[in-house]
Amino acid sequence: YHVDWDPASAEKGGFASFMEKEIHDQPDAVAQTLLGRSDLNGKLTLDELRIDPALLKKVDKIIVLACGTAAYAGMVAKYAIENWCRIPTEVELAHEFRYRDPIVGPNTLVVSISQSGETMDTLMAVRYAREQGAITVSICNTNGSTIPRESDAVLYTHAGPEIAVASTKAFLAQITAAYLLGLYLAQLRGNIFSGQIKDVLADLGKIPAKIQKILDNAGELRDLARSMKDEKSVLFLGRHVGYPVALEGALKLKEIAYLHAEGFAAGELKHGPIALIEEGQPVFVVVPSPRGRDSLHSKVVSNIQEIRARGARTLVIAEEGDEAVRDYAEHVFYVPETPTLLMPLLTTVPLQIFACELAAAKGFDVDQPRNLAKSVTVE
Ligand code: G6P
Repeated sequence: YHVDWDPASAEKGGFASFMEKEIHDQPDAVAQTLLGRSDLNGKLTLDELRIDPALLKKVDKIIVLACGTAAYAGMVAKYAIENWCRIPTEVELAHEFRYRDPIVGPNTLVVSISQSGETMDTLMAVRYAREQGAITVSICNTNGSTIPRESDAVLYTHAGPEIAVASTKAFLAQITAAYLLGLYLAQLRGNIFSGQIKDVLADLGKIPAKIQKILDNAGELRDLARSMKDEKSVLFLGRHVGYPVALEGALKLKEIAYLHAEGFAAGELKHGPIALIEEGQPVFVVVPSPRGRDSLHSKVVSNIQEIRARGARTLVIAEEGDEAVRDYAEHVFYVPETPTLLMPLLTTVPLQIFACELAAAKGFDVDQPRNLAKSVTVE
C-alpha cells in the first residue's frame, strides 16, 4: 500500500495549488482581520494605531499608496473612507506618487497597503511622504517587515502567509483592514453615528460565511473557466466599487493565465471599449446591488444589454435576488446580499476562482507565474 505524500502537497492542505488553498482560506483571512478590533458595543478599538487622536482629527486629506493588487484594495478603500469620513481620499500607485511633486503636509494621512511590506516602490513612497511631514499608517500582512517599521503605525492584516505569487486572501484582508481604518477615523471624528458603525461591523462579521457560500457553489463557474481555456481575450466591466473588482479580475487572468484581459469602468464603455466588442467576446460584468443607488444598477444592466446586442458573451456577477440581469446574461453567478460598500469582499471571489481554474486548465503553474515575483524589492 502506497500513500502519495510530500511536504509541499501537505502544506497545500489537499488543494492542487497554494493559490487554490489561499482562495479557500479567505473566510478565515477576513475573520482573523476583524478579530479583536471592536468591542461588544460595536466600538472600534484599534489599539495598535498609536497615533495621537488629536492629530488624526486634523487630517484633511488621505493618500493611499500601493502597487498591483494592493492598489486595487486602495481604490476600494477610497469609496468607503470618503463615504464614512468625508475626508478627500486619493489613491495612487506608489511609483507614480513620488515623481510628481505631490502635495503632502502634516495634515495628510498616507496609508500604504502592502502584503509583503517589502515592495521597494511602496517603501520609497512612504519614506518620501514621511520626509514631507505626513502621518503614515501601513496596512500590511507581514509582521516586522520594512514598511510597517518605517511607518508611524501599522494595522496588520491577519491573512496568514500568502505563498502564491498572485494575491488573493491578502487582497480581501487588505480591504477589510481599510474598512476598519475608515470606520475608526469616522468614529474618532464623529462623522457617523455609533449605531451605523455597529451595523457595518455586524455586516462585516457576516462576510466570512458568505464567502464560504460562494466557494461551496462554484461548480458552474469552474466548468465555464475550463471551457474557456483557449480564449484570447477577456474583458471586465464594473462600476463604483465594482470597478476595482473588474481591474483585479483582469489582473488575475493576466498574471496566471497569460491571457489578454482588461478591466474598465462600465461608464467608459461608450467612450471607447465598446469598439472592442465583437461576436463571442467574453465580458465579465460586476453588477451593483439593485438595493443600492437604483440608477447605478440600471445603468450597468443597460451596459450588459448593449454588449449583448453586439454579440458579447455576458458573464455576470450579481447579487442574489437580482432577477433583472437574467434576461441578458449568458451566465449569472450570484453572490449573497451585502451593503454596496462591502460588496468587493464577495464579488472578487468568483473572479479569483475563474482565473485560477482557467490557468490550471491550461496546465500552468498558478503559484509561480512566469516573470513575476511575490515581492518586488527593486525599483
Ligand atoms: C508584486 C506581486 C503582486 C502584488 C504586488 C504588490 O507585483 O506579484 O501580487 O500585488 O507585488 O505587493 P505587496 O507585497 O506590496 O502587496
